[in-house]
Amino acid sequence: MDSPRITIFDTTLRDGEQSPGCSMNVQEKVRLARQLDRLGVDVIEAGFPIASDGDFAAVQGVAAAVPRPIIAALARAARHDIERAALALRSAIRPRIHVFLATSDIHLQHKLRISRQQCLEQAAESVRLARTFCDDVEFSPEDATRTEPEFLFQVLEAVIQAGATTLNIPDTVGYTVPLEFGDLIRNIRERVRGIERVIISTHCHNDLGLAVANSLVGVANGARQVECTINGIGERAGNASLEEIVMALRVRADRYPYVTSIATEELYPTSQLLEEITGIPVQPNKAIIGRNAFAHEAGIHQDGMLKNRLTYEIMTPQSVGVPDSKLVLGKHSGRHALSLRCEQLGYHFERRELDEIYRRFVVLADQIKTVHDHHLLELVREAYGESHRIPPGRVGSEQAAAVAAGAEDTPHKPFPVGAPSDFSVVGLTSVPASEHLAEQEDYLWGV
Ligand code: KIV
Ligand code: ZN
Repeated sequence: MDSPRITIFDTTLRDGEQSPGCSMNVQEKVRLARQLDRLGVDVIEAGFPIASDGDFAAVQGVAAAVPRPIIAALARAARHDIERAALALRSAIRPRIHVFLATSDIHLQHKLRISRQQCLEQAAESVRLARTFCDDVEFSPEDATRTEPEFLFQVLEAVIQAGATTLNIPDTVGYTVPLEFGDLIRNIRERVRGIERVIISTHCHNDLGLAVANSLVGVANGARQVECTINGIGERAGNASLEEIVMALRVRADRYPYVTSIATEELYPTSQLLEEITGIPVQPNKAIIGRNAFAHEAGIHQDGMLKNRLTYEIMTPQSVGVPDSKLVLGKHSGRHALSLRCEQLGYHFERRELDEIYRRFVVLADQIKTVHDHHLLELVREAYGESHRIPPGRVGSEQAAAVAAGAEDTPHKPFPVGAPSDFSVVGLTSVPASEHLAEQEDYLWGV
């Protein structure tokens, strides 16, 4: 039997854009939408047309520029919102109106000031209206995970009857935990009449850092659409991160036997484009697309990587569009990686000579954290001048390897902030040989 397909609904341009500092103008949204198309997302939620003229124009612009995916526009459960969304979507080949209305008592009493009965009627009426404009209507009971389940089921049944085609279950405040969310999705699948006619979707926020875990458990319990954003941007702590969900499904297909239409090699380029447009940097240790996601500094790890990448990598960097793994030279690095980098830079050392370079390297790394190629070159020349240069004919392939391995991906930077401007490796790196026991060095060779 074929694996079930998971629809990837990208809301970077709507929920993602709602995060502080992430707002985008029409041109920027269209540019990112084109990249989301290359990435292969199934649905692009392009904006909230009633919110502003800019958002209205952005939905129109994305719909005109990107014909393949479904283009969704958000609307509150109100006539004017729905009409505005429908108008913005007029040129979309595959439009979707996404209607939402809060269902939790907290929201009904304090925000909307309506009764459950009014909520039920408003939800169904709005979906019926949306269906007069468009065959594809999604309904979201906002704050679903804090809604009394029996009432939630009632609302879901009512909107199915009114014509909703996708039921999205938002964990609006990132409150739910995986087992609980899995139970909720399973109960919806088992208890809501008519549910077999619609797609169940997840929409998880990351306030407890559980958005991806909750989305995955939703899928395992019957959700067939996941709403997510590039780099996990979104309200407060963000939305479930698209790249993490997609790669979890791909790397752990043994546990999650589902397919998506995502071209995973486009994940990193998409992440980079979003970073460029918003100016919001991705945290270095962010899974999949962070600067350090494929960087290895510990000597034992570098040694393992040089012998077989499977020792410390569960996916290849190329599979997500990252050019290659990086061996970062720092104080945890070992001789194996140091020797390789020296060769890549055009210098060959016999073992005892390399020991001397290594001694100096460790002292330097202790002080400046990351040793870049220009530091290393300075250090090598200080120790041995040019006497160990590999003859020109032999260097070509090593330099090519250096490029492939991401050698010196950082432009020549001055020494770290706080170091004096005339700071140099010269004079810093001589250590008495007694500090390095020969026996230990033998043991550590290759580490
Ligand atoms: O988090 C949320 O509840 C939303 C809805 C509008 C789907 O973003
Ligand atoms: Zn949201």
